[in-house]
Amino acid sequence: MTRRSRILTTLLLVVVAAVGALGIALSHNSACGTAPPLAGGVPTMKAAVYRCYGSPDVVRIETVAKPVPRDHQLLIRVHAASLNALDWHLMRGEPYLIRPAMTGMGAPQDVSLGADFAGTVESVGKLVTRFKPGDEVFGGASGTLAEYIVVGEGAALAIKPANLSFDQAAAVPVAALTALHALRRANLQPGQTVLVNGAAGGVGTFAVQIARAMGAEVTAVTSTANLDLVRSLGAHEAIDYTRQDFTREAHRYDVIIDCGGGHSLTAVRRALAPTGIYVSVGEAGMGKWIEPFLGFVTQPVVGLFGKQHYTGLLVNNLDAEGLASMRELLASGQVRPVIDRRYPLEQTATGLRYLETGKVRGKLIVSLN
Ligand SMILES: NC(=O)c1ccc[n+]([C@@H]2O[C@H](COP(=O)([O-])OP(=O)(O)OC[C@H]3O[C@@H](n4cnc5c(N)ncnc54)[C@H](OP(=O)(O)O)[C@@H]3O)[C@@H](O)[C@H]2O)c1
Repeated sequence: MTRRSRILTTLLLVVVAAVGALGIALSHNSACGTAPPLAGGVPTMKAAVYRCYGSPDVVRIETVAKPVPRDHQLLIRVHAASLNALDWHLMRGEPYLIRPAMTGMGAPQDVSLGADFAGTVESVGKLVTRFKPGDEVFGGASGTLAEYIVVGEGAALAIKPANLSFDQAAAVPVAALTALHALRRANLQPGQTVLVNGAAGGVGTFAVQIARAMGAEVTAVTSTANLDLVRSLGAHEAIDYTRQDFTREAHRYDVIIDCGGGHSLTAVRRALAPTGIYVSVGEAGMGKWIEPFLGFVTQPVVGLFGKQHYTGLLVNNLDAEGLASMRELLASGQVRPVIDRRYPLEQTATGLRYLETGKVRGKLIVSLN
């Protein structure tokens, strides 16, 4: 072996060892910690927490300190929260790359769960002007699987439409805003054709209805059992993916909103009009490593060949403007949340188990007091 090949071999071994060590460090699950003791006399509440990464078995209901609002914050009594894919990603710490970037290596830094809610304002800080105690509100926040949360006045927060129950309102923020922003990213116009893949899920049920309200011609892709559901939400056409592959049909769509996955970009390309837009929201059973991020690289590359546009959507923060738009659609009855099952807070883990099956119709709700 020459000196040059010895150096290359050594370098290769170092790189392989470093990647292996990084992989082990990223995917390592520390043991579950115990709850820190509460100071005497501190007001308390019940909350769903996870003190280590893993299956829904790691989710516990604990007594924790009740949050105290600062001057610009509201204290809200949560009546309902919804379960989102985000919750199981956080719970499992997957894909692993979210650990160093967001949730913590080995074990979660923030042990709370839940990203949207509906509830009643209990008290407000002295700088809050838009809301008052007794207001019934809904919106996005972190740690909403709890009896109380604090939310800044400028957060994604709005008065609950009177025609919605707390459970219905809690179904809205994450899923509906994801659907709304996906359709806005596609610049959907009245009269255009849009196909929603994964139409029976949390995001899909909103996407079908919002697209219809925007004046589009909607085709919904789902399994046999959910065809009637998506038609009842306003889909003009419903495709049963167990019998028919939309990428093999003659029809070309102006917009494809993909919440279900299951097709390569080459296949999707066939179903998209020559100047069509494909927006990837997510797909069932995404991988643990880099698979969920690959689309952000491959989609722009595929878009270089021709006039079709491919993009991935990641809704990092819920926005007040988007929530206000959704509020109007809900209040006017153009959009209605679809609720599959409800759980008491104590059964949050059971709800997460069902969510992970990828078979939920609409949304799962955790109902509190
Ligand atoms: N980008 C973002 O910011 C963002 C935000 C929220 C969610 N997401 C992601 O978006 C995706 C959808 O979220 P979600 O809350 O709607 O999930 P969900 O409620 O769990 O979706 C479940 C639905 O997916 C459908 N489905 C499963 N396999 C399918 C397939 N092969 N083809 C078509 N439909 C299929 C199922 O309907 P059938 O039983 O009829 O197949 C079920 O109704 C997830 O991957 C989630 O992580 C992304």
